[in-house]
Amino acid sequence: MQFKLSAAADFAASDNLIIGFIGKEDNAVSELPDALSGPIAQWRTAQLISTKLGDVTPLLQADGAQVLLIGTGDSLSVSENQLKKVSAAIAQAMTKSKASALSVLLNGLHVSGRSAEWTVQKLVEWTLTGAYRYDTTKSEKNAEFATTQFRLITDTDAQDAIELGKALAHGVNVARELGNLPPNVCTPTYLAEQAQQLADRYDNIQTDIIEEAEMEAMGMGAFMAVSKGSDEPGKLIVMHYHGAGSDDQPHVLVGKGLTFDTGGISIKPSAGMDEMKYDMCGAASVFGTMSTLAELQPKINVVAIVAAAENMPSARATRPGDVVTSMSGKTIEILNTDAEGRLVLCDALTYAERFNPASVIDIATLTGAVVVGLGHHPMAVYSNDDNMQAEILEAGKSIWDRAWPMPLWDDYRDELDSPYADLRNIGQGRAGGSITAATYLAEFTKHYTWSHLDIAGAAWTTAKEGATGRPVGLLTQYLLNKVPSAS
Ligand code: BES
Ligand code: MN
Ligand code: ZN
Repeated sequence: MQFKLSAAADFAASDNLIIGFIGKEDNAVSELPDALSGPIAQWRTAQLISTKLGDVTPLLQADGAQVLLIGTGDSLSVSENQLKKVSAAIAQAMTKSKASALSVLLNGLHVSGRSAEWTVQKLVEWTLTGAYRYDTTKSEKNAEFATTQFRLITDTDAQDAIELGKALAHGVNVARELGNLPPNVCTPTYLAEQAQQLADRYDNIQTDIIEEAEMEAMGMGAFMAVSKGSDEPGKLIVMHYHGAGSDDQPHVLVGKGLTFDTGGISIKPSAGMDEMKYDMCGAASVFGTMSTLAELQPKINVVAIVAAAENMPSARATRPGDVVTSMSGKTIEILNTDAEGRLVLCDALTYAERFNPASVIDIATLTGAVVVGLGHHPMAVYSNDDNMQAEILEAGKSIWDRAWPMPLWDDYRDELDSPYADLRNIGQGRAGGSITAATYLAEFTKHYTWSHLDIAGAAWTTAKEGATGRPVGLLTQYLLNKVPSAS
């Protein structure tokens, strides 16, 4: 689909679908042909047009072109979340439309506190992510969009915003697709193949796959304690994005890639266990972010590490009480095999040291506790550096993919003491479960500036939407903020 900007509306083509916005107090339909603006005023008075947020009123123009008015609530000045609803309505209209050319009359639509470019960027992104529908493992495929030309009618020069919106939507949809795939399809091997394909497709990406034998040789006893119970071989997937000089320190992303988490011998209850296919959404967001970077080509270096494994009970699986040695040399008493994310991550985080990182972020569906604490909207962010934590919060706020700060205090550290090992893999009880998990990871990240995102609440919804693709937006914005400004 081609995105175009134009200042003045040109509705010559009869296959146009024209989308305008209408609020209780104002509307952005002034560009519409006079033949329509008159009747619209009358219909509005007669309450034939709904101004309710996201409501769509279809109208027909004399020449056959279709006009849709999307309600924006009280006025054309909307909040970020309201713009998302408006964009979803555009996506739905686009999905159903047979028109090859679609024009959106932006004038007047405005997000309070945001620039016109921001509004364009998010409208493009949210329209494209709103139009994503999973169909990969269904016989009946979604129809291709009839729309090939998407025109935004605005006075703002927003070509860069369009490109950013498209690249973000692409990354978010990559992450959603990986998250939604069933666990018998999306295995660690499948993820490794996706990484290889990314490298084939983009010159600025290079991929290395590290197999279990090599991980054993490197001493990754914590990763292997999880992976060895499964017949699916685990993979450590390393992707390099090169956008700057080779001596530029990279930012490193580490994704939890549990393609299925049964809990292992500490098995989970069966109700809702299918949702544990989403336990690779941290990894999915890393794939999505790399895809977005590959398209945007910012002048930075990024290394992505995906710890991909399956957590299964079997005769080879780890027992509660087993003690293993991690790559760092620290020994770990595994008291609950369902606290497996931190086990694969601690070895991946130790592995990250070799890249001499400028910063490291791990992204993980790590705990049920964070869902209890924060619900499904923010992601929890922990950091060993207050400045980095602030940068992450700010990146999330600016791109509207928000995180919320959590404490990493040494008060919690005692809970991880073990009489049999250097530390245990769970706290003493359920209290502060997301924090004790982060405290565990902090033991392995002392050699660099690091943040941890617990995304268990934000990564998917049980409703139709499925995987959300978060936090591709936050990660992309954080990394774009690291691009040295041209001077
Ligand atoms: N993948 C889960 C976390 C999770 C659970 C995310 C439910 C979303 C919904 C993780 O591996 C896990 O099982 N964590 C345990 C840790 C506990 C054993 C200390 C949890 O949160 O219950
Ligand atoms: Mn688990
Ligand atoms: Zn898990």
